[in-house]
Amino acid sequence: MLDFLRQEGISEEIIREIESFRAQYPLSDASSYRVPNPSYRYYGKEIWEMALTALLSGENLLLVGPKATGKNVLAENLAAVFHRPEWDISFYLNTDASSLIGTDTFRNGEVTLRHGPIYQCAEMGGFGILDEINMAKNESLAVLHATLDFRRIIDVPGYDRITLSPATRFIATMNYGYAGTRELNEALMSRFMVINMPLISQDNLKKLLLAQVPNLKEEYAEQFSALFDDIRKKCESGEISTKPLDLRGLLSSIKLIENGLTALQALEMGIVNKSTDDFERQLVSDVLSARISASLSAAELFHIR
Ligand SMILES: Nc1ncnc2c1ncn2[C@@H]1O[C@H](COP(=O)(O)OP(=O)(O)O)[C@@H](O)[C@H]1O
Ligand SMILES: [Mg+2]
Repeated sequence: MLDFLRQEGISEEIIREIESFRAQYPLSDASSYRVPNPSYRYYGKEIWEMALTALLSGENLLLVGPKATGKNVLAENLAAVFHRPEWDISFYLNTDASSLIGTDTFRNGEVTLRHGPIYQCAEMGGFGILDEINMAKNESLAVLHATLDFRRIIDVPGYDRITLSPATRFIATMNYGYAGTRELNEALMSRFMVINMPLISQDNLKKLLLAQVPNLKEEYAEQFSALFDDIRKKCESGEISTKPLDLRGLLSSIKLIENGLTALQALEMGIVNKSTDDFERQLVSDVLSARISASLSAAELFHIR
């Protein structure tokens, strides 16, 4: 991972600090299985620098942005870079203190606290990914206030009060713009350093395509990145919604072409049909046909396997 950071152009100073963080907080045998080994890398030098510096300074991070901007990929990459065990905690409407910190259970006739993910993460010096944190009710998250600010404690009335391991960090993610998303209140927001996650750049998308689909010919990686950029421009000008601006859909489409569909069939499923409006679907189809020929298929797109 550190070599990848060097390739991305991260300074040696930051890399040295990561190395000393790792040396300061060696992994215990009990937690090493939780250290992620990411199959995807996050591309974007500036975001890397902001995230690494904030975490090295002891801050918690909130990654905010539209879908498929690599929020979870970055969060996992960060746990891997710092060599920390990861807890992935999805937030939803009914998330409450007991699902985060723990629940009462009977063991040998006694009530004990079965430790929840936040508790375990806090104790083991983990990186806790608070995924889609804004899906939970703000009031249910008040239990995290003391955990996320300078107090760095978990204090559950009736149970023990623990102090977070100095290696523990929290990285929250938050989408916006689709139904059901809510705002974080100011109290919670002020406990994070916030990164606005940009849509991947055209150059980085080309890198990503070549890394995730190693068989793809370079000229077509270029074509698909340009296509994605065409769709992005239509979104920015307000001509279409962001529904068809779907990077996951693009990646899946390319895999379907590899498995035998024509480019237009696959992109219809992965991109065009994400839109629920006839007129918009037509606009997106037109953008596609301007870039990609209807008959384009695996034989042309991929190097021979
Ligand atoms: N900057 C980026 N670097 C690497 N991968 C990215 C980037 N932006 C988006 N992706 C890709 O988009 C897909 C979705 O990523 P994910 O982290 O799940 O997005 P999010 O959590 O923001 O919705 C993955 O395949 C990921 O590799
Ligand atoms: Mg996500």
